[in-house]
Amino acid sequence: MSFEAIGIVGTGQMATGIAEVTAKAGIKTIIRGRTSEKALASIETIVKSLSRAVEKGRATEEDKEATLANLSATDHIGDLHQVDLVIEAVAEELPLKLDFFKELDDTCSDDTILSTTTSSLSVTQLAISTRRPTKVVGLHFFNPAPVMKLVEVVPTLVTDGDVVESMRKLCEQVGKVPVVAKDRAGFIVNALLFPYLNQAVRMYEAGYASKEDIDAAMQNGCGHPMGPLALLDLVGNDVSLEIIESLYSEFRDPFLAPAPLLKQMVAAGLLGRKTGRGFFDYSK
Ligand code: CAA
Repeated sequence: MSFEAIGIVGTGQMATGIAEVTAKAGIKTIIRGRTSEKALASIETIVKSLSRAVEKGRATEEDKEATLANLSATDHIGDLHQVDLVIEAVAEELPLKLDFFKELDDTCSDDTILSTTTSSLSVTQLAISTRRPTKVVGLHFFNPAPVMKLVEVVPTLVTDGDVVESMRKLCEQVGKVPVVAKDRAGFIVNALLFPYLNQAVRMYEAGYASKEDIDAAMQNGCGHPMGPLALLDLVGNDVSLEIIESLYSEFRDPFLAPAPLLKQMVAAGLLGRKTGRGFFDYSK
């Protein structure tokens, strides 16, 4: 199966990053936002990212224009009726995602594959809410999506083998590295990464070391590009808390219980880079 048109539902950092990736790979990409202003703002973010790439000599002005020509914005889900694939990337709220899956199922052609970028909800639950569960699959990108190579392809027990194969090929077509993981909380990466990030918050909370030293330790001792607390700020403490809670509720291991400080930071709106303050200050 070849992918000529893709619909992205959502306008957050993941949705925008994924749209940049697919448009750059020559695929017509329609961004559907709650309002057309939000969808257009998402394209503006991509324009800035592409302009930075041109300034740094990683792309030419022609590359930028070719990518932009593949992008369009809408607030109307009906405009996605003929795309080959929809990538749903709205907030991690099950009722919201279920509403979108119902609407997409009613709107899109029978051949359209419906995928979700969820990192903390069950792909299976979304699949069974549609009349096409064999054509529903998880497509889990990593932050920042234009940079990180990996995509976890997450079939449910009923996803068609052909759909999984076509997702693998699509990932390769857009320059990503696919791996296939079962529909279990955390898939592969988050199941390994988030217990570590949670433990770093506990360590900081218990006063083992300063936040700067915890991060410097993992960067310089293990060669990680970012320390755990800076990484939490990049991902967003709200998203991270949802992922840790999903691991805890699936495995019931006390070690996976969210660090109290992480919960308090989310309640206080200290979500990380996106709000200007998390473990570190980004206001400047
Ligand atoms: N969008 C587009 N490009 C970006 C970017 C963004 N948000 N952030 C950085 N880049 C690009 C830069 O333009 C730069 O490219 P060039 O070198 O060609 O100029 C390149 O990435 C490196 O950026 P910087 O030099 O500014 O910074 P860096 O070297 O410190 O790298 C980083 C930044 C790529 C984010 C790096 O620190 C890193 O890899 N961090 C770890 C990220 C990670 O672990 N992500 C996974 C999180 S878990 C997840 O996402 C799962 C989930 O479900 C939430």
